[in-house]
Amino acid sequence: MEKNIDWGNLGFGYMRTDFRYVANFKDGKWSSGQITSDDKVVINESAGVLQYAQTCFEGLKAYKTKDNSVVCFRPDLNAERMIQSAERLEMPAFPKERFLDAIHQVVQANLNWVPPYGSGASLYIRPYMFGTNPVMGVKPADEYQFRIFVSPVGPYFKGGAKPITLRIPDFDRAAPRGTGHVKAGLNYAMSLHAIVEAHKQGYNENLYLDSATRTKIEETGGANVIFVTKDNEVVTPKSSSILPSITRRSLMYVAENYLGLKAVEREIYLNEIHTFKECALCGTAAVLSPVGRVIDHGREINFSSGMEHAGEITQKLYDTLTGIQQGKIDAPDGWIYKIA
Ligand code: PLP
Ligand code: COI
Repeated sequence: MEKNIDWGNLGFGYMRTDFRYVANFKDGKWSSGQITSDDKVVINESAGVLQYAQTCFEGLKAYKTKDNSVVCFRPDLNAERMIQSAERLEMPAFPKERFLDAIHQVVQANLNWVPPYGSGASLYIRPYMFGTNPVMGVKPADEYQFRIFVSPVGPYFKGGAKPITLRIPDFDRAAPRGTGHVKAGLNYAMSLHAIVEAHKQGYNENLYLDSATRTKIEETGGANVIFVTKDNEVVTPKSSSILPSITRRSLMYVAENYLGLKAVEREIYLNEIHTFKECALCGTAAVLSPVGRVIDHGREINFSSGMEHAGEITQKLYDTLTGIQQGKIDAPDGWIYKIA
């Protein structure tokens, strides 16, 4: 039985659910891992995560489909990306097969927290890993904890499908040879001041530029970006310092193979974005959130799709992607991972 929650009015926030998954790394190996109801983490005061932010995470969702199954969307890619994040941060990889098994266990244990089909909500799944033993000199920890908790969530941006406004910030998100391409907690710490400032000024998010030249579009604090050209091409920034979004890679595939559109990954310059007719943010949390306007230090770029509705191509991409996730449209092989 589903929990008695007002699913349609959920925002994107943490809600304590019944069970989480925990495994520990010690003496060079991972423990067998278990489901627990204990939501508290107790670690040493000098743990690597507390001193030097040695932590990485992932984000994916479980959905109820039309036939009432519970599925995840491409969790194998989250497993692979978390291994890449761990390697970049000198943390031990959590093996892919174990990652998938852990996702399975934690969702299965919390089945009655999975929002009903058609409610607009989903179950957000947050795998993460952090250094637990004391470090003083700057070096990696020797012991780690891998955990996964879940929380039912609604839309990331308040107002759901209403287009949002981005600003071009004066802050950078990632350095060219830094950690922008992995899901390191430190990337998000870097972005906190910029997002607080953006919100104070009335913007929904920051659209970061490449920090080397500050001429090219990168991504926002928590999502990749796509644009639609006047010729209905879907374009997205190519950069080695943005997170390789699973949603974006899936949307580019959907654009080409389901909608018959040209989908191009290339460098995109700030001084060309006024030529695009649509813009949207994509990610697990953001799904595909339409952007109506970008403000670059007072210069307004208004996409012709406007501030009321998603653009036509954005809407088609959204309907197709969410249709695949909810079992209404046939998925490419391997995209849907059935849990129950
Ligand atoms: N970019 C950043 C900085 C993110 O935090 C996220 C969220 O995971 C994304 C992009 C979107 O990635 P994905 O589609 O894999 O969730
Ligand atoms: C996600 O989309 O899963 C993320 O991790 C983004 C985060 C900013 C909520």
